[in-house]
Amino acid sequence: MSAAGASTSSQIQTREREKTQAGPPSPVVQFWLGPHNEGLLDHPDSVGRITGPCGDTMEISLRIEANRILDSRFRVRGCAVSKACASIAAALAKGKELEEAWDINEIQIAGPLGEIPPDHRHCPLLARDTLRQAIENYCQQEKNRKT
Ligand code: FES
Repeated sequence: MSAAGASTSSQIQTREREKTQAGPPSPVVQFWLGPHNEGLLDHPDSVGRITGPCGDTMEISLRIEANRILDSRFRVRGCAVSKACASIAAALAKGKELEEAWDINEIQIAGPLGEIPPDHRHCPLLARDTLRQAIENYCQQEKNRKT
């Protein structure tokens, strides 16, 4: 994670801690504390991994059978928002055909999080692009296997 990423992540954590003391945790904090689908699949059919311009690195692994994503996991070295976005992207991808999963966009990924700070608006884009890279890698592998 970049120094800028660490600093903004720390600011978010401080802001969220203050909010938490005043009421229920925000969706970002809920995903940060208890993300779904975290980890790396054993023997995945494909993996996408991207380091964003901020320095955060996201990885999404997929289990694919008959053109459908059966399972999906993520790992993030980065901010709380990117972790939440990767968790949501992995969940949205599960059960979808590859073409449907490709169409998952940043608005769908960010939706459950509500308001995202302006300096973190690229986090759902990173999740979208990492998922797409995993799909693209799989399609390329399949193409190579058949030729
Ligand atoms: Fe870059 Fe979140 S700060 S992905």
